[in-house]
Amino acid sequence: MGKVESKSSRSTTGTTTAKTQSYLLVAAFDFGTTYSGYAFSFRNDPLKVHTNQTWYSGGAGNLISLKTSTSLLINPEGEFDSFGFQAEDSYANKAEDDNHHGWRQVMFFSRSWGIQIMKAVLADLCIPTLSRTTTVEDIEGNSHQALPIFSMAIKFLQTHLLQAVANQTVGVLEKDICYVITVPAIWDDNAKEFMRTAVKETGIDETRVTLALEPEAASIWCETLDVDTRAALAGTGTQYMVIDLGGGTADISIQEKEQGGTLKEIHKPTGGPWGGTYVDAKYLKFLEHIFGEKAITSLKTEEMADYFDVIREFETKKRTFSVQTEDKFTFKISATTRKLSEKFTGQNLEQRIGSLGYGDSVIVKGGDKLRVEPDIVRTWFDGPIDNLIGHVKNLLKEPKLIAVQTVVLVGGFGESAYVQEKLRCEILDKRLIVPAEAGLAVLKGSVMFGQNPAIIT
Ligand SMILES: Nc1ncnc2c1ncn2[C@@H]1O[C@H](COP(=O)(O)OP(=O)(O)OP(=O)(O)O)[C@@H](O)[C@H]1O
Ligand SMILES: [Mg+2]
Repeated sequence: MGKVESKSSRSTTGTTTAKTQSYLLVAAFDFGTTYSGYAFSFRNDPLKVHTNQTWYSGGAGNLISLKTSTSLLINPEGEFDSFGFQAEDSYANKAEDDNHHGWRQVMFFSRSWGIQIMKAVLADLCIPTLSRTTTVEDIEGNSHQALPIFSMAIKFLQTHLLQAVANQTVGVLEKDICYVITVPAIWDDNAKEFMRTAVKETGIDETRVTLALEPEAASIWCETLDVDTRAALAGTGTQYMVIDLGGGTADISIQEKEQGGTLKEIHKPTGGPWGGTYVDAKYLKFLEHIFGEKAITSLKTEEMADYFDVIREFETKKRTFSVQTEDKFTFKISATTRKLSEKFTGQNLEQRIGSLGYGDSVIVKGGDKLRVEPDIVRTWFDGPIDNLIGHVKNLLKEPKLIAVQTVVLVGGFGESAYVQEKLRCEILDKRLIVPAEAGLAVLKGSVMFGQNPAIIT
């Protein structure tokens, strides 16, 4: 691959040390169904992976995230405007002033695509991936060609990256950078070709771009961690399971360490629609039940800034939920939601909740707080987690996978203490490894992979 000479070697500690590459920096881009971001490291200090620490969503949720949301805003002329939380906020502000007409906020992995994936998984069919003819939907349901959308997003991340590099050092030119772009293990050749074409259209020199499979990148990252983790993954013939639990899906792959430290897939990638956004969807259904469907629809379409506040507040809260949570959980739901509810249902909110039969388990406090019993919150998490656990246990029972002793859990939803505790209890005879900042493992591992692409067979 172009300038990257694969003459790197693996040190005896299992980490990767690049020796003779002619580039100065490796950068990785990761596009997930929910979040996207980039990371990079310099040739002279490959293990020190830098990520953008400042993706920041304003508003009540004050969500600080190491990746930004996968959404893009296009202006009425069809040109790129912004990406990430910024795109969401900008569209929401325009909508508040009724100035959003003609502007298109695009979520890459549209709902209809998600539904297709879910159906394919349930029917054990081939999972649909991207191709030149794939379209994505904007928030109003209009279709757009996916290819230019991906190109715009890649260009945005590259521009952001170049700025971050320039802020840190002088003397690194664009031509000194080699890029790694992550792709899910289930992607077929058409989808990979799609990604390469999208890169080409940004003007980035293709010869400096490599694609890395997400689960393999995740394993590579784990091999740079502490001694115990490395020991669990080391040794020719060692087999282990990698679960990437992201926003949309759980992607599960099984790998074997080969002589020389390379990795080999020994089972077809499997998975299901058990990601963290499932919990968000359950929360929204709950809000619809409490406040009325019309109120929530109106919040989404007419009061978009408040809607994003509610969603981001939930995103922050959801991260603190654990098996040990005993007290009621408080969610800020914005005073607007209450007003809309009372307007559309014609009922006082306290009376409405009383009539819904929740007793003391759901209470409104002040104008904008909802207090909810943890037993209710638990039900939002349990659907995807129980499905995941069932699937993992079935896989581990397969005679072919009897030697798998270690399970590596990565992905944003894998950071959830609740998820980790439940999974750990169900696979007590296996070692469960969850790296710190599990949501960034794929991204950081991709940087490592770029530092030494010879690792993967
Ligand atoms: N600490 C946490 N606790 C619970 N959920 C979390 C935590 N951190 C992130 N999440 C959830 O993880 C999901 C995002 O994970 P990740 O960034 O791995 O997704 P992605 O790469 O966009 O998705 P996918 O891999 O499915 O395409 C979101 O649903 C988010 O709410
Ligand atoms: Mg992901």
